[in-house]
Amino acid sequence: MNSFIKGTSIYLRAISLADASEDYLQWINDAETTKGLVTGTFPSTMEDLKSYLTHVSTDSKTIMFAICQNDGDRHVGNIKLDNFDWVSRTAELGILLGAKDTWGQGIGTESCQLLLSYAFEELNLRKVSLTVYDNNPGAIRLYEKIGFQTEGRLRKHIFANDVYIDKLWMGIFKEELK
Ligand SMILES: CC(C)(COP(=O)(O)OP(=O)(O)OC[C@H]1O[C@@H](n2cnc3c(N)ncnc32)[C@H](O)[C@@H]1OP(=O)(O)O)[C@@H](O)C(=O)NCCC(=O)NCCS
Repeated sequence: MNSFIKGTSIYLRAISLADASEDYLQWINDAETTKGLVTGTFPSTMEDLKSYLTHVSTDSKTIMFAICQNDGDRHVGNIKLDNFDWVSRTAELGILLGAKDTWGQGIGTESCQLLLSYAFEELNLRKVSLTVYDNNPGAIRLYEKIGFQTEGRLRKHIFANDVYIDKLWMGIFKEELK
């Protein structure tokens, strides 16, 4: 199990090269899963995935966790903090729930809440930001629900599925986390 942060239905543990699986490879090549991500524009191979995992699991500038279900230890997605500014005490959050059969069960919400509690209470960050495409209502709903506010809108900034869409900057301070 090797849990680092324990939640009600899921736990977060360090990601490693051993997490390179056919399931994970499918997540990052799946058009529906990646429609709100930079990942997915170009096809990924198992070698690409292993190279990425080797990098993020050893890079001191990224803290990335595997999201695993308490019941059965299944690895269903990843969540990370990067782009740290240790003077301003900020970082950026990213999440990918790859196992589509788990969408809509609150796992994204719980994962973000656990990661943000860690960011504020353990890392002593002051604020966490993220970007989200305006074609991702589920993600925007999740972020607003836990206290993120939209701070900026880059108009028609992203080309995806043959249209240009807005990219939103959202942010949350420690005291705003719900
Ligand atoms: C976006 C994502 C993290 C959401 O995770 P999830 O576990 O499915 O979300 P939750 O079950 O915690 O739901 C959070 C809220 O969003 C709502 N929601 C979820 N999917 C939705 C959708 N497609 N449309 C509208 N609302 C949606 C839920 O109803 C819930 O709100 P509620 O409590 O008021 O009912 C997950 O679908 C995912 O990783 N997708 C692929 C990668 C991605 O887009 N990452 C985010 C990039 S910014």
